Amino acid sequence: MSVAAPDEQLRSQATTLAEELNLPLVVEDAAGFDLLLVVTEHGLELRETGCGAAGPLKVQFGGAGATAHRLATTSPREPLASAIGLAKGRPTVLDATAGLGRDAMVLAVLGCKVTAVDRCAVLGVMLRDALQRAATNPELKQVIRDRIRLVVRDAREVLAGTSGEEAPEVVYLDPMYSPRKKSALPKKEMRLLRRLVGDDPDAGALPESARRVARARVGGTRTPRAPPLAPTPTMSYKGKIARYDVYLTPRGGTRL
Ligand SMILES: C[S@@+](CC[C@H](N)C(=O)[O-])C[C@H]1O[C@@H](n2cnc3c(N)ncnc32)[C@H](O)[C@@H]1O
Repeated sequence: MSVAAPDEQLRSQATTLAEELNLPLVVEDAAGFDLLLVVTEHGLELRETGCGAAGPLKVQFGGAGATAHRLATTSPREPLASAIGLAKGRPTVLDATAGLGRDAMVLAVLGCKVTAVDRCAVLGVMLRDALQRAATNPELKQVIRDRIRLVVRDAREVLAGTSGEEAPEVVYLDPMYSPRKKSALPKKEMRLLRRLVGDDPDAGALPESARRVARARVGGTRTPRAPPLAPTPTMSYKGKIARYDVYLTPRGGTRL
């Protein structure tokens, strides 16, 4: 993987990013690299190279894309929101698998204070860039300033270092799906994301770390027929392409 900047004017931004991520900077011939993080004037894009390459993957919250539409039309009655407990308030949420940041932003737009955690450094800079750009959007400005915080680190370390009043009411988990299962993300995006982050083979360890920390509940996303992330969810909410399993933690029954 490498960082690329086709536009000469963006070269110094690309150089800084390449240094931060400890990746090579490609100026002309990207042929030797299977994945490129491309600096464009509209934000960072992840691109595959070679024939049959998927189109670019972007993290974008404002503008006119699918994510902006989802943010504009989200409702506290959607299954994700129900799984997080929005019927009873606006809990603090630690999204332990932030990915492209969509679920984290939906919850922040709905009024939750969200700590978005992802261990992938490349996704970290893409999320940071997208949040900075969306912070100039009048509808998202305040949400980003007041309700979303990005942490680029393994969530198990973050959870292990969190306790007491610092602990979030809800921990939300959405690790990668098995390659054979349908995902909530479009196919092309899933393929690129999987190339970048892998299959999360250690996903089974997250629910236990999450349950130790969450003051009210743990929410986990699965495909409709996939087994739950951990045994015996307290309840489940079904969406069109995902199922949201909920595990109330000992205090969860009363808090949310
Ligand atoms: C399917 S994506 C999440 C998509 C996300 N819910 C969204 O709305 O865009 C899964 C993400 O979880 C991250 N991940 C998996 N295990 C993690 C861990 N232990 N700590 C931090 N991030 C993790 C991966 O890097 C990947 O980006």
